[in-house]
Amino acid sequence: MTVPDDRRDRLRAVDPADAEDVATLQRACFDDQWSAESVARLLTGPANLSLLAEQDGTIAGFLIGQCVVDTAEVLAVAVAANRRREGWGGSLMSGFEALAAASGAERVILDVAADNAPAIALYGARGYATAARRDRYYVTGRAHPVDALVMVKTLGKWTFYDS
Ligand SMILES: CC(C)(COP(=O)(O)OP(=O)(O)OC[C@H]1O[C@@H](n2cnc3c(N)ncnc32)[C@H](O)[C@@H]1OP(=O)(O)O)[C@@H](O)C(=O)NCCC(=O)NCCS
Repeated sequence: MTVPDDRRDRLRAVDPADAEDVATLQRACFDDQWSAESVARLLTGPANLSLLAEQDGTIAGFLIGQCVVDTAEVLAVAVAANRRREGWGGSLMSGFEALAAASGAERVILDVAADNAPAIALYGARGYATAARRDRYYVTGRAHPVDALVMVKTLGKWTFYDS
């Protein structure tokens, strides 16, 4: 159940010093495993737009994204297994959308595995719509290839105030 308070005030930018912790959580959540070096590269890239959620001194979740011209992209968003359904995922998305809009983005795009029901529910509840499908896109760690859904949300002024 989502906690009703807005957790965006508990988010901060991801620092390259967080790369190891972020990579550890990423590897716990995804089949496609990132190294600390690849996380650090993303965090120091010119288009980087990333957020970290911390609680009780540990990472509750992260969102690694980018913003190029008028389009922001979520590369990965994850919440620690013991922190899910507390509202962190929604707050990370909300914080990212606000930062993206402030950076000039008109839309957010992301890929999600067609069998990832929790993530699709999260994005759907936040107004993302499926714009395209990438056939047999996810193969790593899968018994069978799984399609990717390309989901898009158009940003508006309300993004700054919506939780
Ligand atoms: C997807 C993920 C980031 C959601 O994070 P979260 O902190 O649990 O999400 P929230 O608590 O903010 O949930 C917000 C809404 O999303 C939907 N949702 C989230 N998890 C869900 C689930 N397991 N089943 C159904 N709906 C779900 C619900 O609508 C939920 O609102 P509610 O709790 O009021 O019903 C998390 O499950 C995760 O880290 N999964 C592994 C990594 C991953 O798949 N990332 C996405 C890759 S594209």
